Amino acid sequence: MAKGYEWTLNGPLPMLEDHSRAKHDVLRDYVVNYLRILALSPRSEGVRVTLVDGFAGGGQYQLPTGGVAPGSPLVLLEALREARAKVLIDRQERGIRTPYVIEAQLHLVENDRTTWQCLKAVIEQTVEANDAHTKVDIHYGTFDQHLPAILADIRARQKKGGRSVFVLDQYGWSQVNMASVKSIFSQLPSAEVFLTWMVDNLVNFLSTKTAEKLEPALRRVGLSEHLTAEKLLSIKNDGSADADLTWRRAIQSLMTEEIRASADATYCTPFYIIPRDSRRGYWLLHLAQHLRANEEMKRIHWQNNNLHHPGGPGFNMLGFIGNNGQLAFDNRFDENARRVTTEALHEDIPKRLSEMHTPVRFGELVRITANETPAKRQQIQEAVFALASERHLILRTESGAKRRTAQGLKDEDAIELPTQLWLLPH
Ligand SMILES: C[S@@+](CC[C@H](N)C(=O)[O-])C[C@H]1O[C@@H](n2cnc3c(N)ncnc32)[C@H](O)[C@@H]1O
Repeated sequence: MAKGYEWTLNGPLPMLEDHSRAKHDVLRDYVVNYLRILALSPRSEGVRVTLVDGFAGGGQYQLPTGGVAPGSPLVLLEALREARAKVLIDRQERGIRTPYVIEAQLHLVENDRTTWQCLKAVIEQTVEANDAHTKVDIHYGTFDQHLPAILADIRARQKKGGRSVFVLDQYGWSQVNMASVKSIFSQLPSAEVFLTWMVDNLVNFLSTKTAEKLEPALRRVGLSEHLTAEKLLSIKNDGSADADLTWRRAIQSLMTEEIRASADATYCTPFYIIPRDSRRGYWLLHLAQHLRANEEMKRIHWQNNNLHHPGGPGFNMLGFIGNNGQLAFDNRFDENARRVTTEALHEDIPKRLSEMHTPVRFGELVRITANETPAKRQQIQEAVFALASERHLILRTESGAKRRTAQGLKDEDAIELPTQLWLLPH
């Protein structure tokens, strides 16, 4: 098993590393936004949600600068507190008088006995865990053992879809079983799953000697049909000067679709969390059945510059080789990445339209390309509008009128290539 943080009773807390802090930031931002979006409807009086931390850890870390930092269970509790405060302000600002209550259930699972005891002690002292509208259950054992009862609990308490966020933050890469992730989506259509992989562990584990052990591990997690130790070894041994990057690209392009399909999820964002001054990091997959969740995740990625996407910028997100024949772009979700993304969309949107039966609705274009691009809806919207202004495509409202602003673009708007372009070779 991959080694990681160690918690001991009454001993010093493990030191929080930068990549874990970056991961906590993404998680916190996502959960706060998720809860704010659920509260948008003025007539709603509240929501029931469940947050599941399937690989919870010991609850706290120490910071290199001194002081104590929260682990993921506390990050979830803090996100709940922040969301409740922000929802109150959001609704006051919109003049909504209906009181709104977030009823939250947390399930925390930890299979190391000492770590579980540390976690219990931390949660007992945490104010947010005693909120009247928050219930926390701390389970000792493996995530797989507890999952069936957690799923049953969510279905019993939350009738519609089972709104829930699962955080599956394993050490290494081989503890989360894809069959478990699949059972989450098959029972709870409104669930979302964060899945982390420590890619370095997989790379380090891999050698000719360990290849034999890797095969059963790949089988156990349900990926052996798509990925063989031999295939991975050949990438590791290809002698590339930029091995980390090559490796990340290979993992992303070889495995994203397989993981999404094994989980039976509709949407997946497959980006890395790698702090700028660090080589260590995570592959963070966000899996969901709803486009809105995928869009929200992309928005968070573009806000946080610890994120990294070593693949294509346009509709070739998982391409190892970019459209220009060079190694795919190194996207840091920064200003440069914004510019490159816009340029790529200017080429890829007309190209895609020429391959489809036109006209296509804007919402449909966003939906069918969601798993193919790191671009957020707003970037696609701006690219479509700019292309229309430059007469490279035609954009019309549902009533056939001309759309005047990029922000005004609606899902129902129709886009097509100008007829004369159909006659030209691309
Ligand atoms: C990466 S650490 C979690 C860190 C924590 N999520 C955080 O961000 O603070 C992984 C934890 O999962 C626990 N673990 C390992 N295998 C597990 C399993 N099958 N089920 C539940 N917990 C497991 C380990 O003991 C360890 O505490």
